[in-house]
Amino acid sequence: MADATSSLDALLEYIRTNRGFDLTGYKRPSLGRRITKRMQAVGLDDHDDYLVYLEAHPEEFAELFDTILINVTSFFRDPEAWEYVAAAVVPQILRTSGTDELRVWIPGCASGQEAFTAAMVLCETMGESDFRARVKIYATDVDEDALGRGRRARYSEKELESVPDGLRDRYFEPGDGGRIFRADLRRNVIFGRHDVIHDPPISRIDLLIVRNTLMYFTAETQARVLAQLHFALRENGFLFLGKSEMLLSRSALFAPVDLRQRVFAKAATQRMRDRLLALVPEASATSAETTTLETTHDAAIEGAMFAYLAVDLEWRISFANLQARTLFGLSGSDVGRPIQDLGLSYRPAELRSLIERALSERHQVTVRDVERRTGADTRYFDVQVSPLLARDGAVVGTGITFVDVSRYRRLQESLEDSKSRLETAFEELKSTAEELETTNEELQSTNEELETMNEELHSTNEELETINDELRQRTLDLDEVNAFLESILVSLHAGVVVLDDELRVRAWNDQAVDLWGLRPEEVQGQHFVSLDIGLELDGLLPMVRETLAGEQGERVTTVEATNRRGPRIDLRVSCSQLLSPTDEIRGVIVLMEPV
Ligand SMILES: C[S@@+](CC[C@H](N)C(=O)[O-])C[C@H]1O[C@@H](n2cnc3c(N)ncnc32)[C@H](O)[C@@H]1O
Repeated sequence: MADATSSLDALLEYIRTNRGFDLTGYKRPSLGRRITKRMQAVGLDDHDDYLVYLEAHPEEFAELFDTILINVTSFFRDPEAWEYVAAAVVPQILRTSGTDELRVWIPGCASGQEAFTAAMVLCETMGESDFRARVKIYATDVDEDALGRGRRARYSEKELESVPDGLRDRYFEPGDGGRIFRADLRRNVIFGRHDVIHDPPISRIDLLIVRNTLMYFTAETQARVLAQLHFALRENGFLFLGKSEMLLSRSALFAPVDLRQRVFAKAATQRMRDRLLALVPEASATSAETTTLETTHDAAIEGAMFAYLAVDLEWRISFANLQARTLFGLSGSDVGRPIQDLGLSYRPAELRSLIERALSERHQVTVRDVERRTGADTRYFDVQVSPLLARDGAVVGTGITFVDVSRYRRLQESLEDSKSRLETAFEELKSTAEELETTNEELQSTNEELETMNEELHSTNEELETINDELRQRTLDLDEVNAFLESILVSLHAGVVVLDDELRVRAWNDQAVDLWGLRPEEVQGQHFVSLDIGLELDGLLPMVRETLAGEQGERVTTVEATNRRGPRIDLRVSCSQLLSPTDEIRGVIVLMEPV
């Protein structure tokens, strides 16, 4: 298999260096099929042998290119898409182009039907004189033969079937055994050789029509060509693609205008935008309103939503607010007790070390999410231990707050759970999207492959139709010759029997029927000697054999015979050679005439 690939590569390289035609950007399966078709036509089944054949027969290049470059095309191909272009795209182009030159480019134009379709559509919308004054349609292809047909602009009635009647009569004039696109409008259509893969693009294009051409190229080449086409288009330009040419999903160069009809607009190039950073002023600290009223102070702390304890420098509980008393089951008598005597000193957090740190560092110490289990209930607290300072800055004890954060913790857990579920879902979505994208690309390439095969079948069909037409013509010619011969045989007054070189009857005319009463179908292919007729054949045979053996001249004899009606008659029998155009003896003509 590797050998077949490398020998195909060698063949492509040979074509590139010898004919300057680089086929490496074309899809291999289709290219392989087309080359195989040519190889079969010249009776070869090996790429290496075909390369040698091309070296010896340079005229084969033309046949090969003709087979590779499938020229299938027609007027108003995909009529619905053309209707859309006529109704929505052309008016839009006319609006934005004002009175400027209007430029259309059709790479892969084949024999020109698409270019003249565009010409008719534009003429119908803008009027003939505006069309003549402003429009340029560049119709390009790599196939010189096809370009020649386009330049001649002559099409058969069959090719013109897809042109609506009114347009056919308005834009085509009879001539040269078909119809020719009007000369006064033809000047606006310029045919030229251009390789869309390798040659620089034509620029400032308003409408770019690339149909059923890109699909022959590999995805990589398509992407490269699309970038060139993007460059070719004016800012407000449109791209009109063929049925199977859905832009590669990743192409950001074109924005769909109507996906069904495969019309795209040039995507605007992103302009650099200045981004201003919104400076958010920091909130100024609000000065807390202080109060000297101790009672207000105490009441506020007592009724606070969090548990609060104060411990003096002797490590005794000096204060516990309502929440703290409730939380740790403290009573009024617990105030004044050493903290280490109470369970709360080590549960839920090891308070003693925290108090020591806060006192020694004179700084607030915080422990977050401390778990506290009571029976089946689990709660979480942020524990904060702060040194309590007197007005003169001396440390007088520590204040301890327990803020219940269970709600936030649960919220966070559920958020984390949701987040991880979202992440999983996102990953799944991402991989589904990737799979879809791959499937989409596979589908697209299958679609393109099918479309390519369709075009190939179409072109084979056209060839078969031509062969069929030729065969039909030959049959007609043959019928005519047969009728002619038949009339000669009928017109002769003598009975005529034509024998082949084995003496089997090949022709038996009406007079022979009249003489012997046997119909042509009864004697066709029968041996002359075996015929049951009233003629003594044994006597005639030597004469027939001599004639067949090549003895020159007509042989004549008179024999007695009994015709189909009974009476004896004298029959003049002559034998002459049946000769081929090259003077070979093919048989004997026996003439029988009653004397
Ligand atoms: C199937 S025809 C399409 C004709 C027309 N665009 C249509 O859709 O009816 C494909 C054409 O592309 C041309 N082609 C192939 N490779 C090309 C290339 N590299 N540059 C320009 N034209 C190319 C072929 O010669 C052929 O005429």
